[in-house]
Amino acid sequence: MSAAVRAARTSNARILSSLKPSPNVVVVGGTSGIGRGIALSIAQHCPSANITIVGRNESAANAILSQLGSNPKFIRADVSLMSEIRAATKKISAVDMLILTQGILTMAGRTPTTENIDNKLALHYYGRVLFVQELLPLLRSSQNGSKVLFVLDGVNGNPSKINWNDMALENTYSLSSAANHALSFTDLVIHYLASQQENTNITFTHAFPGVVRTPIADNLPFWARLPIKCGLALGLGVSPEDCAEFMIYGMLGTDKGSRCINDKGETVTKKSPIQEEMVAKVWEHTSHMITLK
Ligand SMILES: NC(=O)c1ccc[n+]([C@@H]2O[C@H](COP(=O)([O-])OP(=O)(O)OC[C@H]3O[C@@H](n4cnc5c(N)ncnc54)[C@H](OP(=O)(O)O)[C@@H]3O)[C@@H](O)[C@H]2O)c1
Repeated sequence: MSAAVRAARTSNARILSSLKPSPNVVVVGGTSGIGRGIALSIAQHCPSANITIVGRNESAANAILSQLGSNPKFIRADVSLMSEIRAATKKISAVDMLILTQGILTMAGRTPTTENIDNKLALHYYGRVLFVQELLPLLRSSQNGSKVLFVLDGVNGNPSKINWNDMALENTYSLSSAANHALSFTDLVIHYLASQQENTNITFTHAFPGVVRTPIADNLPFWARLPIKCGLALGLGVSPEDCAEFMIYGMLGTDKGSRCINDKGETVTKKSPIQEEMVAKVWEHTSHMITLK
């Protein structure tokens, strides 16, 4: 374990083990990879935490539930669908930490769900905001202040590349535009959410996990998977366990408002300045997309 991981781990253990009352933690995407690593790490540092993981893979969930502290729960949901997110959030009665790691790696073009939102954008962006929106009353009433962590890419968002004429990318979808919309919208939406007077009890963090050795590339075609597998075999990337410590460290270190963090959990400083007009447009568009689906 590197000195940086050790330092993050020590700090996380100190903070999490001293939390009273025990935190209620929801990890969406907790059945695999980074989310799984975060859920397991929180359980190690704070065995009395009430941890709920959300995903589709019941057997993967069952394989770790016994390691998730004293009150583990699994909520089965396809979180590419806003209707399933509404149903899933109704099963949650308290939340102090909401961790959003659901995602896929695919080279497919626009793939609309039955709700006519692109599958990848639903996972990486719209559904995550809906989780926050639905859980806001619980997040606001958290006794010690609540934390929301978006694990996507808090480093590379670029609002100048947003297509303001086709924000949902219904007509101009490409892999790069989908990636940039999800990253940049997340940067702007956490700013919006943190700026609301009712949300001063909540901090919002958008994290870049770096290259992490998870199964996310397993569904890519062979030719696209091969170079990734070779890189990982040669030592590229970090383990989900190490990544989890940095992500938790960054989340706990956001004192108020919102911030973007890098793969070591440190604040990203080189970001283009946020323009309030863009923030308002993104919020209006997002509300429209997630409402009544
Ligand atoms: N790994 C990396 O190097 C890397 C780098 C940059 C960014 N990221 C981002 O980090 C996030 C986590 O990635 P990861 O590497 O941990 O991926 P992963 O190991 O493949 O885990 C993805 C998680 O998302 C859940 N998920 C996917 N589709 C779902 C659906 N329709 N409904 C419910 N849950 C769904 C999966 O749960 P079920 O299988 O149970 O449905 C799983 O728990 C992703 O957003 C990814 O884009 C990863």
